[in-house]
Amino acid sequence: MKSNMKQNEKTPLLNVKNLKVQFETDRGRVTAVDNVSFSVNPGEIVGIVGESGCGKSVMSQTILRLLEHTDPVIYDGQVMFRDIDILKMNLKDLHTLRGNDIAVIFQDPLTSLNPVYTVANQIEEVLILHKSMKKKQALSRTIELLELTGIPDPARCANQYPHELSGGMQQRVMIAMALACEPKLLIADEPTTALDVTIQAQILELIVDLNKKLGMAVLFISHDLGVVTKICDSVRVMYLGQIVEETSTEVLFTQPLHPYTIGLIRSIPRMEGERGKELYVIKGTVPSLFNVPEGCHFCTRCEWADQKCFTQEPPLTETGFDDHRVKCWHFREIACLDKGVGGRNE
Ligand SMILES: Nc1ncnc2c1ncn2[C@@H]1O[C@H](COP(=O)(O)OP(=O)(O)O)[C@@H](O)[C@H]1O
Ligand SMILES: [Mg+2]
Repeated sequence: MKSNMKQNEKTPLLNVKNLKVQFETDRGRVTAVDNVSFSVNPGEIVGIVGESGCGKSVMSQTILRLLEHTDPVIYDGQVMFRDIDILKMNLKDLHTLRGNDIAVIFQDPLTSLNPVYTVANQIEEVLILHKSMKKKQALSRTIELLELTGIPDPARCANQYPHELSGGMQQRVMIAMALACEPKLLIADEPTTALDVTIQAQILELIVDLNKKLGMAVLFISHDLGVVTKICDSVRVMYLGQIVEETSTEVLFTQPLHPYTIGLIRSIPRMEGERGKELYVIKGTVPSLFNVPEGCHFCTRCEWADQKCFTQEPPLTETGFDDHRVKCWHFREIACLDKGVGGRNE
């Protein structure tokens, strides 16, 4: 699959710089996103991957400031959309941006769909509000959008209520609604996690297809590296609020250097030659935000960790080629092993 990114379109659409997101809780302040920087170019599909609890959703919701209504949240850094810092926008401009330039889809489509309105009513409302369409025009555009997402009988679907549709159809309706305003950027946070494998493949194909047809950039977030690598141009691996490795999808897969990335790759089911073998699992779990290790955040689960890793945080370091950065004290030794996705003790 892969996106339609053009080489000459290199000015970032979204540029997240040193983003920090903290929550004020009863037990003190916690840092869910810790100094994260990355950019998304026009037409590009960028992946963010990491286990559950690594800060992917907090990060993606911060881009549209969706958290501040419900949580006492503290931001630092910048989220530049073209030349405007979203974190400093007034609410009126923020609403315009959300409706027009950036759209978001979530794992559970029912959180975005209103159960008491038909599919048509909901999409029409977006078109009337943001695109100043008349009712009749909005209905025909709604049908077009549903058709674009591969819904077999769009006119029928338009008259249905969300609960009358299957999970895959609900997800398509949510995508149609997200596309109503022709966003420049689609943020997709685990959009296929709740779906079975066949429907998941169809939705992924749809996202890539829309990226190609409409030139829409995508920030694709998932806990599943196998899914991310199918559609993304480049990948950021996130662990406990930080980016620990970033490069093109191809390089990440062929020359992963962070022990966490290596673990995620080994955990992908049915890698070539792995059939029948017991599936690898990274030992332990992501620590809670109240218990973040002092040095490298991954040290408590890492087979490479030594004294230094437990006391000093490694910087995100350029490897020197392929726009590849890694946050590990041992990445040079790991590179020398040249054992692909093997571990230290193999
Ligand atoms: N409102 C909140 N208050 C305190 N901690 C939160 C809040 N929302 C999320 N978190 C914490 O932030 C961390 C990252 O969560 P999240 O972004 O949902 O992870 P992911 O999407 O990668 O699974 C988790 O430890 C979670 O418990
Ligand atoms: Mg999440």
